[in-house]
Amino acid sequence: MKRLGILVSGRGSNFEAIARNIATGQLDAEVAVVISNRAEARCLDTALARGLNAVCLPSKGLDREVYDRTLAAELHRHGVDLVCLAGFMRLLSAGFIREFPDRILNIHPSLLPSFPGLDAQHQALAHAVKITGCTVHFVDQHLDAGPIVIQAAVPVLDLDTVETLSARILTQEHRIYSEAIGIVIAGKYRVQGRRVLLT
Ligand code: GRF
Repeated sequence: MKRLGILVSGRGSNFEAIARNIATGQLDAEVAVVISNRAEARCLDTALARGLNAVCLPSKGLDREVYDRTLAAELHRHGVDLVCLAGFMRLLSAGFIREFPDRILNIHPSLLPSFPGLDAQHQALAHAVKITGCTVHFVDQHLDAGPIVIQAAVPVLDLDTVETLSARILTQEHRIYSEAIGIVIAGKYRVQGRRVLLT
C-alpha cells in the first residue's frame, strides 16, 4: 500500500477529503503522516482524531534549505512514497524536490497556467473569466508550473464572490485530488515533456 505524506498549512479540507476517500475504500493508499508548518493548523487535530500521525514542524524564521531538510527527513522517517501538498503555503527548495523526484503533487484553485500564486479565485474574478477551476499537478522548481495530471472546470457566476466561487471550486478539488493520487500511485501514467499521459 502506497504511503502518503500530506503537507498542510491551514484548514485542511483537501486532506480530509483524501482521508475520507481512503476510509471508504475509494482510494487505495494510506496516510503515513500529516505535517503542518503552522502550529495552529486545524487539520492537525483532525488528523489525530482519525488516529493518524500528525506532526507540527513550524517554519517561521527558518532558512528554507534548513527547513526543507528537516521536512524531507520527517517524510522519509515515515516511509512516504508520495508527497501531497494540500494548502501548504511554502515554496519548496530544489533540494527538497530532488529528494522526491516526480513524487510531489499539488492542488491549485485555478485552471493553470491561468492565475498561479496566491488568491487564485480573486484573480479569476478580477479578470472576469467565465470559467475557472482547479488543477492537480506535479511539483517542479517553478511555482504552480509542473506537468498537469487532472483539471476540473468550474463556471464563474455573475453574482459570485471570492467565497461562493471558492466553495464551488473546492467541491471539485476534493474530487480530483484523490482521483489524481489514485492514478499516480497506481503508476497509470507516463510523463512525456509537459504532458502526463494516462495509460
Ligand atoms: C485550496 O484551495 C487549495 O487548492 C489551495 O489551498 C487551499 C487549501 O484548502 N492550494 P484546504 O486547506 O485543503 O481546505
